[in-house]
Amino acid sequence: MKRTSPDAQTASRSSLALFDPRQKLKLGLFSFNVSGGMMATSVPTTYELSWKHTRAIAQKAEAMGFEALVPVGRWRGFGGETNFAGESFETYTWAAGLAEATERIMVFATSHVPTVHPILAAKQAATIDHISGGRFGLNLVMGWFTAEMEMFGGKQKEHDERYRFGSEWVEIVKRLWSEEEAVDFDGTFFQIKQAIARPRPVQNPHPVLVNAGSSPPGLDFSAKYCDINFVGMGSFEMGQAAASAVRKRARDVYQRDISTMTYATVVCRDTEAEAKRDYDAMVAGIDWGAIDNLVRVFGLEGQSYGDAEAVRQLRTQFAMGWGGMTFVGTPEQIVEKLAKTSEIGIGGIVLGFNDYVVELDHFDRKVMPLLRQAGLRS
Ligand SMILES: Cc1cc2nc3c(=O)[nH]c(=O)nc-3n(C[C@H](O)[C@H](O)[C@H](O)COP(=O)(O)O)c2cc1C
Repeated sequence: MKRTSPDAQTASRSSLALFDPRQKLKLGLFSFNVSGGMMATSVPTTYELSWKHTRAIAQKAEAMGFEALVPVGRWRGFGGETNFAGESFETYTWAAGLAEATERIMVFATSHVPTVHPILAAKQAATIDHISGGRFGLNLVMGWFTAEMEMFGGKQKEHDERYRFGSEWVEIVKRLWSEEEAVDFDGTFFQIKQAIARPRPVQNPHPVLVNAGSSPPGLDFSAKYCDINFVGMGSFEMGQAAASAVRKRARDVYQRDISTMTYATVVCRDTEAEAKRDYDAMVAGIDWGAIDNLVRVFGLEGQSYGDAEAVRQLRTQFAMGWGGMTFVGTPEQIVEKLAKTSEIGIGGIVLGFNDYVVELDHFDRKVMPLLRQAGLRS
């Protein structure tokens, strides 16, 4: 059989923007494939879920030198007045479109493993890796939102069982990407006969794999199979502990290194007073109906942020950015928070804004130069 097409030169990790050692703190953009973006608030914004707007955001991030575009995998909204995240672009096709619209930045899909068969996922990922010339990454999520998983039939699996399912899934995908022979697999969840998926991906050994689990099985899944763990950072202390735990597990148990990234939202204005005023307006506009639903289900099903009560206490953070921190302040104060993220041992951060295009422009002019001065970016 003729080996893959001419544009499929093998891209190794070292040629990827996301692993470029010159950028001490990697930067990405998060959650701009869902209605509401990263914030469940009614504060006015030009952000909209249209392809034209999506492409503009992605191209702006690339022009600023960002390394990654990461979508949220979402199949339904959270109700409330706004049905937050009720509309979303499907993420493999989103990544394929943005791969064609960009040249250097990495494009990710966020895949709920129970919603897509591993052979289909392996083929889709390889195809997007070819479209992008080896810039594709896959964020593997197990599916904590029960109502989403029930859309696909069957029963929501118990928490740890989801990771056992995910382990079989990713083992099949990795074998399809790498083995010479057709793949047979006889597991608890999958029985596969003589499966093949060609062409191979461009990246060697495979597209970058990410997972955001931090429960014991989530952490183990990341440590065993993934290149990057997305650390939930409800506070710097929490982010530091989670990042060091996953690195330790990868090293001690699997003799490998794993990178870490996290996420946050940014409200940056020229003065502290303006930033606080705008942040307060965003909090005043929160759709609590949607957030109460989100927090209730996540508190029971996700373990990254602690138990149900711990999650409930973080409800403002869930409204303002999927449970992560919100960095509020002047450009100098934002740089301090980003520097702190780096100091606690996290390699990169994907950001969200209330108004991506407008606020990215401000971030580009006011924050990027300070990040360079601080040695976090070159
Ligand atoms: C950066 C980041 C992105 C995530 N993206 C999604 C997503 O798009 N869809 C989703 O259902 N869960 C998403 N999650 C949830 C995680 O995959 C994970 O289930 C959650 O953090 C709970 O961890 P646990 O599964 O170890 O209990 C994300 C988490 C983080 C930290």
